[in-house]
Amino acid sequence: MLDDLKANNRAWATRMVSLDPEFFKRLERQQGPQYLWIGCSDSRVPANEIVDLAPGELFVHRNVANLAPPQDANYLSVLQFAVDVIKVRHIIVVGHYGCGGVAAAVSGKRLGLVDHWLHPIREVYEDHHAELAAIPDEKKRLERLCELNVKRQVRNVASDVFVNDAWARGQSLSVHGWVYSLSTGLVNDQNVTVEGPGDLGKL
Ligand code: CO
Repeated sequence: MLDDLKANNRAWATRMVSLDPEFFKRLERQQGPQYLWIGCSDSRVPANEIVDLAPGELFVHRNVANLAPPQDANYLSVLQFAVDVIKVRHIIVVGHYGCGGVAAAVSGKRLGLVDHWLHPIREVYEDHHAELAAIPDEKKRLERLCELNVKRQVRNVASDVFVNDAWARGQSLSVHGWVYSLSTGLVNDQNVTVEGPGDLGKL
């Protein structure tokens, strides 16, 4: 079963050791990534590859539509560990154009449990209804919703108590919002970076 994947794994591990004999031994001792990536589960948006970082360099949390819901224990556990224990310097919320989760949220179709998960995106849609309704092209409208969703999730992260406690004790920590393009492979910085509680007002 899955013999091709196991063969891939053996070849990869061999290649990594041939490039750096101490690679896995060093990683085994500890991880010290500078970045927490909060991204979509979409298979086309692989965190490490996009920013060309090796194992050990990126702490990753992914879910459908890159949400940071303040009541989600999974996301909060990752966030607190990244901020309090690993002490990452940067948290990057990474959405992507063409996100199926974002489209599903506003499709009006019943999909099941994921409808509840995607509820925050419908709230973003309602909050920006006038701007979005003025975009006649559906693809462009959804792309804008992807951007607005990222901005909202940056606000969620930056207003979180763990993040604000870190700032209060003088820890260096920035929250960023990017949107990745499936068609070019490039990230589009949304310029919504928050470097302290004073920046929250601009979101
Ligand atoms: Co997506």
